[in-house]
This record gives sequence, structure tokens and C-alpha cells, in this order.
Amino acid sequence: MDTSDCRVNLQEHWDKAYEKNPTEKLGWFEEVPTLSLEFIARCKLKENAKIFIAGAGSSTLMDALLDLNYTQLIANDISREALELLEKRLSDSQKAHLTCIVDDLTKPTILKDIKGIELWYDRAVVHFFLKKEEQQAYFNLIQSNVKIGGYVLLAAFALDGAEKCCGLEVFRYTTQMFQDRLGDHFKLLKDVNHTFINPFGDSRAYVYTLFQRKE
Ligand SMILES: C[S@@+](CC[C@H](N)C(=O)[O-])C[C@H]1O[C@@H](n2cnc3c(N)ncnc32)[C@H](O)[C@@H]1O
Repeated sequence: MDTSDCRVNLQEHWDKAYEKNPTEKLGWFEEVPTLSLEFIARCKLKENAKIFIAGAGSSTLMDALLDLNYTQLIANDISREALELLEKRLSDSQKAHLTCIVDDLTKPTILKDIKGIELWYDRAVVHFFLKKEEQQAYFNLIQSNVKIGGYVLLAAFALDGAEKCCGLEVFRYTTQMFQDRLGDHFKLLKDVNHTFINPFGDSRAYVYTLFQRKE
């Protein structure tokens, strides 16, 4: 099987997950993404800051950021279905502040051109990139697209977190592992170990981290 076939299958896998389940029954659903919003508040971004949400899915984070009057949101996902669900939920005036981009974060095409990002946000996405080449491609994209002074919020399963999510194996992280992959140009501002209780009442151990690009 060549890599393009794998990519199609992954896209189908995620499309099916969003087709089969209402958003609030997805294992990663948060009614209010409280911790993410606390981390984002720490960045003190202007309302017109360019905010990139990697693997956004149909997350309620977008609704929360729109309520906070952010005007330049970019939601990416490999699943077109997920982004369509998200768009259906929003009003026309909200959609005016959101650009949706279907693209693979590990084999980016359109995403290569999204420069000058002031906040790169990823919750529960990076841990699906198992191969070294996928991780390298993903962190290269962050390094080339986040502006100097910009922020990177990465939240992923911690080492004692679940081994699988949505039927897929995951690669679990510590803060230091993120630091090693981002490199010395990114300074750690904050990290927190967090236990997320999913919609089925199960605990999921996460590590939340916030970095800033220095140069
Ligand atoms: C566990 S969900 C998390 C969704 C959202 N970040 C949240 O916190 O609610 C993982 C998301 O990553 C997306 N995804 C997985 N692999 C991807 C890739 N290679 N490129 C872009 N998105 C991807 C999936 O479609 C899914 O929406």
C-alpha cells in the first residue's frame, strides 16, 4: 500500500467517526474547553490575531473563540465531514471570521502557505502522528508558519494516557518531548498535567503545554 492510499483511508476513518456520532458523543468532546481558554488568555492576543486550529474537528473551541470576538480563525482538519459539521452550526456572521481548510498536517499542501500564525492550537491531534517522518513534517510546519513572538499550544495524551483513541494507536508525550521537537527557538511558558473526563465518564491523562517562538 503506498502512502497516498494510507492518507485516503485515514481521511475516511475520520469522516466516518464524524458521520456516525453526534459531536457531543465523540470521545474527545468538551462542552466548554476551559483549560484551553485559560492557556489562550495567557497569550493576550489581539482580536484580529491569526489563530490556527490544527485538527479542529467540530470542536466547541471555535464557538468559544468567536464569542470572544476573535476575527481571524483558521480551522484545519483531514476530515471534510468534521469541518462541514462545524460550519453548519455557525451563523453567517460567525462564519465570516472562520476559514476552513481540509488538508493533512503531515503532508501539507495548502497549509504550507498559511504563514504568520500568532497562535497554533492543537488538542488531541499530534498524538496520532506515529511515524518519525510524520512528526518531522508536522513540527517543520509549525516552525515555518508560526511568526516570531507567536504561541504554540500543544495538548496531547501524556505518557500515562490512553494507548488508543478513535480506534487508532497514539504516540504519547511529555513537555520535554515537545520541547525537543520544537527546538531551542521555542520557549516553554506553561505546562499542566490534566485529567480529562470524556463523555463516557472515562479518565484521559493529558499534558497541556504553551510555548512562544523567540526567533
Ligand atoms: C481526537 S480529535 C480532536 C479534535 C479537536 N482538536 C478537539 O479537541 O475536539 C482528532 C482530530 O484530528 C484530525 N486529524 C487526524 N489526523 C489528521 C491529519 N493528519 N491532519 C489533519 N487533521 C487530522 C481528525 O480528523 C480529528 O478531527
